Amino acid sequence: DKGNYRHFMAKEIAEQPEVVGHTLARFIDMSAGRIRLPEGADVDFAKLDRLAISACGTAFYAGLVARYWFEKFARLPVDIDIASEFRYREPPLSPGGLALLISQSGETADTLATLRHCRAQGMRIGAVVNVPTSTIAREADLVFPTVAGVEVGVASTKAFTCQLAVLAALAIKAGRDRGVLSVEDETKLVSALVELPRLMAEALRLEPEIEKLATTFAKAQDVLYLGRGTSFPIALEGALKLKEISYIHAEGYAAGELKHGPIALVDESVPVVVLAPFDPLFEKTASNMQEVAARGGKIVLFTDAEGAAHAGDAFAVLTLPTAYAFVSPMLYALPIQLLAYHTATFMGTDVDQPRNLAKSVTVE
Ligand code: F6R
Repeated sequence: DKGNYRHFMAKEIAEQPEVVGHTLARFIDMSAGRIRLPEGADVDFAKLDRLAISACGTAFYAGLVARYWFEKFARLPVDIDIASEFRYREPPLSPGGLALLISQSGETADTLATLRHCRAQGMRIGAVVNVPTSTIAREADLVFPTVAGVEVGVASTKAFTCQLAVLAALAIKAGRDRGVLSVEDETKLVSALVELPRLMAEALRLEPEIEKLATTFAKAQDVLYLGRGTSFPIALEGALKLKEISYIHAEGYAAGELKHGPIALVDESVPVVVLAPFDPLFEKTASNMQEVAARGGKIVLFTDAEGAAHAGDAFAVLTLPTAYAFVSPMLYALPIQLLAYHTATFMGTDVDQPRNLAKSVTVE
């Protein structure tokens, strides 16, 4: 049921503050302000040398964000690859090590095959999964549930931010287990997560401003998305969302890669979406923006109040709530979903059932 929404995708975007809250409640002891993993899914990250993560599509991008967190907060090295590459790459895997698969449907053929491959190598299997009755949920040793509810729109939205929420909680747990984070660090990071649904609701209020950008994006042949650090995988996700439902060619890049090739594409006709909260990486991204502006590129900057004050020559600046850097991927995911959605609906495509795509990819 779409309720009052025109599309499932719109409804699912709007539901995110609520379902991310539900998901976090499964991983946080709210009264203590500490991480508490669901029953039967406890894991001691101190026992691991490395963590292997694998997934497809949007779920893979959630894994890319998680790599930054596990490495920063837990000093735990992460091997990550797309599921269709992981197995064939034959990475050296440690028996007794942990493989973490991420999947909304729990039925994606390549992700399932990777699960079985890792199991055959003697690894333990953890799964961040949305459908609790799915094959991946059944075959995993440890299930870390996302509580996004049924996701109908083919383009993943709420499952993604719920995956990020679960992975954030796991990374904090890993940081504590490995003695990298103190209890004070833990409670600070947990309180940032607890605040998140409220900030997400605030970010969704940018919708009317984002909708106005649809006319510009609908005319574009190519769109670039740039970000650094954890904003880089969100740039990849932004480009994927736009491609999937509007059929406009889009690419996500690490902002620092711009001058290594993609800047050749930039002219007045190319919108360049920049995801840049005002964090220690902002200044670097700002100099990439200047390179784009100098070539006439139309910069659409998603940032916070402090970043907006340093925006320079942007075509449009959209100001998100100021947040602890750790939670920004969950926050910046929302406007890029809305941008793809409004561009696609403006163009009249079938956003819930885009051409050539299936909700669950059960062939390799
Ligand atoms: C993108 C999208 C796909 C899925 C991918 C993995 O919007 O929906 O890229 O993320 O097919 O699917 P799951 O998570 O079901 O394994």
